[in-house]
Amino acid sequence: MVLKNPKVTVVGAGNVGATCAQRLIEKNICDVVLIDILEGIPQGKALDLMEARPVELHDRKIKGTNNYSATKDSDVVVITAGIARKPGMSRDDLLKTNAQIVSGVTTEVVKYSPDSIIIVVSNPLDVMTHLTWLKSKFPPKRVFGMAGVLDSARMRFFIAEALNVSTDDVQAMVLGGHGDQMVPLPRFSTVSGIPITELLPPQKINEINERTKNGGIEIVNLLKTGSAYYAPASSAATMVEAIVQDRKRVFPVAAYLNGEYGLKDVFIGVPVKLGSGGIEEIIELKLAAEELEALHKSAEAVKSNTSKLFELALV
Ligand code: NAI
Ligand code: 2OP
Repeated sequence: MVLKNPKVTVVGAGNVGATCAQRLIEKNICDVVLIDILEGIPQGKALDLMEARPVELHDRKIKGTNNYSATKDSDVVVITAGIARKPGMSRDDLLKTNAQIVSGVTTEVVKYSPDSIIIVVSNPLDVMTHLTWLKSKFPPKRVFGMAGVLDSARMRFFIAEALNVSTDDVQAMVLGGHGDQMVPLPRFSTVSGIPITELLPPQKINEINERTKNGGIEIVNLLKTGSAYYAPASSAATMVEAIVQDRKRVFPVAAYLNGEYGLKDVFIGVPVKLGSGGIEEIIELKLAAEELEALHKSAEAVKSNTSKLFELALV
């Protein structure tokens, strides 16, 4: 069911959150509440975005706040609160700090929007999604993480660049955890339906796979003061759109697996159908032995990090 007047909360008015909020209203998708702990920041960014409205020509409202009562009855909540990586830091270095932040945020979100769908963006992504799911007690189809859309978008761009073709015609599939062991799948990556394995030599495909896996750190090393946010914000906004407009889009997202791909009790990137119910289907690809092995290896890394939540008594 397409939502008539959807309300979306974005938690964290930093680089990813504010840009995601901007994408959502400027695409005319929904009204947005932007919330942060910093006083004045969400209010100032929201006012600035409302002042852009007469120029951008849309009808959506954005409200900045530090108070969760304004988020009441949100249809979708995007959690971007937390610290981002600096050079030399891995996503896992963020675990402890962001677990404390995401845990507190989830409690407030659930209190005011018990029927919402939550998209987690904060890193380490798969672990923070697991934590949000445990804290929220929502069914797993209503809690999932954004990473695969971003990782696949990066791969799509690198393929388009290598072949000098339009990015419009390139699709790519990246599974696994949002970390060094993510699993780009060239066999399932195509240009207008033609697998890239037919179009590019193996060495170039390997280079694209490696650049995709290191896509996040490449930007961190350039920016030096934080991590990527334009493509992450676009990716999260596209997931919101799929939900509020019941688009039934097929994306890789960090979803809870309960036996699919031979994996249990882990959030990891797999292709799903996204609609107004959240994850409406998990799509099981027939993976080759080495692809499945790589996915399982990535899941082991995610599980080992997720176990830190329990070791450090963060849940
Ligand atoms: P940022 O530092 O620009 O913004 C984070 C915001 O969270 C800040 O405004 C901060 O005040 C706010 N915040 C901190 N504690 C809060 C709380 N308790 N309640 C509400 N807001 C709170 O960081 P950026 O670049 O926006 O990144 C945000 C997170 O997203 C990071 O953890 C980053 O690693 C992650 N990320 C994940 C991606 C993915 O693919 N899943 C891609 C890009 C970033
Ligand atoms: C990225 O992949 C930092 O996880 C973030 O850009």
